[in-house]
Amino acid sequence: MESFKPTHIPVLPKEILEYFHEIENKETPTFLDGTAGEGGHSELILKEFPTAKLVLNDRDSIMLSRASTRLSIFPGRFFPLEGNFSEVEASDLEERIGSSKVDGILLDLGISTYHLTSSERGFSFKNEEYLDMRLDEGGKLTAYEVLNKYKAEKLSQIFREYGEENWTKKIVEKILLVRKKNPIRTTLDLAKLVESVIPRKFWPDKTHPSFRVFQAVRIEVNNELGHIREGIENLSNLLNKGGILCVISFHSLEDRIVKQVFREKSKGEMFSILTRKPITPSEEELKVNPSSRSAKLRVLKAL
Ligand SMILES: C[S@@+](CC[C@H](N)C(=O)[O-])C[C@H]1O[C@@H](n2cnc3c(N)ncnc32)[C@H](O)[C@@H]1O
Repeated sequence: MESFKPTHIPVLPKEILEYFHEIENKETPTFLDGTAGEGGHSELILKEFPTAKLVLNDRDSIMLSRASTRLSIFPGRFFPLEGNFSEVEASDLEERIGSSKVDGILLDLGISTYHLTSSERGFSFKNEEYLDMRLDEGGKLTAYEVLNKYKAEKLSQIFREYGEENWTKKIVEKILLVRKKNPIRTTLDLAKLVESVIPRKFWPDKTHPSFRVFQAVRIEVNNELGHIREGIENLSNLLNKGGILCVISFHSLEDRIVKQVFREKSKGEMFSILTRKPITPSEEELKVNPSSRSAKLRVLKAL
């Protein structure tokens, strides 16, 4: 068997398993991991529930293949499905596990540590890479196009809305100036451009001053926020009675959408929210996995 070295530590592991223990079908539970990543959570689920079957989904084929390698210790119990979680259909589940609904669904939003450190697709301001940022190869829009082709108004809108960037006006002015001469091609081109605009005394302590701009461009390229709403609406209909949907978000924009859609869903008789407030990592988890610091878990139960 191929050896597998994970780069990503799954967040809120204990909490996710505790909530999945609330599912009503304990004998032959079925799960959908909508954001497989490196399969860290899926591995925990398959260990915790020895009779479970799991559909393993990711829009990034490389992640799906990494996760499948990791899970090869569970032959016959996991079933890969490449695509967007907002487009998973009952027939996809039926084909893989013989049932059109599942008992537990996990969405662990955003990107994996692997994307930042090893994908070479320009997600990080740390390495010199071409500005691509697409999670799936089939995606038409790249970060290069956003930064070099978008008009000032559109760039300002995405930096404000998706990055909550206070220096938007100045950053956009600089982008327009720079790209008149040469295209903004690499991650370091972008990181240095932002550095040159934001005065040093306003740089954040724990990260690079360009992190908000990187986040905003990535969200735009992958339409990440749109898929969260569509995804929760779609996937909540694929839950068996007594089933559990866990969603982990990593910034306020994501969490706001999760909170809002959960509220709308819980107005009828079909769903109830199990987390009045979002669950956040314990002190203990923060020590071993500081990147979990902004994680928030919300849980919905199908009645
Ligand atoms: C934070 S990582 C998941 C890590 C995983 N839980 C683990 O323990 O290894 C998020 C993953 O979700 C995938 N992803 C993001 N948005 C998606 C979407 N709309 N549909 C399917 N996969 C998505 C990304 O490609 C990435 O691999």
